[in-house]
Amino acid sequence: MLDSSFKILKLFPPELAHSISIKALKYYNFNFDSNDDPMLSQHLIGLDFPNPIGLAAGFDKNAEVVKSMFGLGFGFIEVGTVTPKPQRGNQKPRIFRLDQDNAIINSLGFNNKGSKKVKNNISKLKNSLVTNRIVGINLGKNKDSLNSIDDYLFGMEQLGNLASYITINISSPNTEGLRNLQLRGNIENLIKQIILKREEIESINKKPVFIKISPDLNEDQLRDIALISLANNIDGLILTNTTTNRTETLLSKNKVQKGGLSGKPLFQTSNNILRKMYNLTNGQITLIGVGGISNGSDCYEKIKSGASLVQLYTALTFSGPLLISKMKKELIDLIKTDGYKNISDVIGKSV
Ligand SMILES: Cc1cc2nc3c(=O)[nH]c(=O)nc-3n(C[C@H](O)[C@H](O)[C@H](O)COP(=O)(O)O)c2cc1C
Repeated sequence: MLDSSFKILKLFPPELAHSISIKALKYYNFNFDSNDDPMLSQHLIGLDFPNPIGLAAGFDKNAEVVKSMFGLGFGFIEVGTVTPKPQRGNQKPRIFRLDQDNAIINSLGFNNKGSKKVKNNISKLKNSLVTNRIVGINLGKNKDSLNSIDDYLFGMEQLGNLASYITINISSPNTEGLRNLQLRGNIENLIKQIILKREEIESINKKPVFIKISPDLNEDQLRDIALISLANNIDGLILTNTTTNRTETLLSKNKVQKGGLSGKPLFQTSNNILRKMYNLTNGQITLIGVGGISNGSDCYEKIKSGASLVQLYTALTFSGPLLISKMKKELIDLIKTDGYKNISDVIGKSV
């Protein structure tokens, strides 16, 4: 039933298809699949992950369908990006399918209902089945904000205590100037203030903090981010967001659209960043690998390249709701074939 309704969605323009999915997922009653194979479970950054596959930020921007997404089998969910105030985002159309490339280009620009609404939505979850599940909150800044860093600090104050972990998103290509926060002086200042804020507020001082970065950074920029993260007790990095680069191999006519490219063509690029970061950080901080994962073997490759956990978004829109259960089976087969006992034995094995 779920799979056949999914096929109909592809007939709609992508942003409408997404709104319909969110509405349907809100009301769909899932049987909770809480029996992941112990081979897939890991204790990391103080949290128990039943399996390593997470929903990447951007699908559930307002924390409206968290329960249903756990029902699809994800091991953790990242909601957001949430900005302090609600905002509409950029002009439509702003999501484009690249069917021949299994990819998407989006230029959404942090459309979301704002921190107050998201706070309400997540508070409601606390009384439901998902109480002990892992829900990360991805924070961003408003387009018109006068001080970007203040927006992240506000997000931490408002939402930090409801999050299993906090992600500082400084890598979306669709908010002007945002990615400059990744540059040396800026990121150092940002990270120092984030860590100070975490120390200041008792209810969040044990919350892991991740920084989500772009795949379009050069070697020097990656090195700076690794050193600053290590020096300031950042718990982990999410690698990567979408890219503004277009590979020559893209076939779909929508390749000319502006925005961030995600899906299959991003797989190798984001893996390269992951491998470099694993080397630069000596495996000392947790890396979440994201970009172009569409099956169990992709997931395995990311973990071999240094990721402890992975996330995906685009493949879900191409393959549908049964994808995650299938990927978990494939992952277990790969672990067994290579003679490992647990997914954590695989981390960084090919670096
Ligand atoms: C439509 C769309 C919206 C997204 N919105 C966000 C967002 O709000 N915040 C964020 O950090 N990443 C966002 N992303 C990026 C994803 O989280 C992910 O990093 C990227 O798509 C690569 O993974 P994938 O190839 O599995 O999609 C978005 C991606 C897509 C396709």
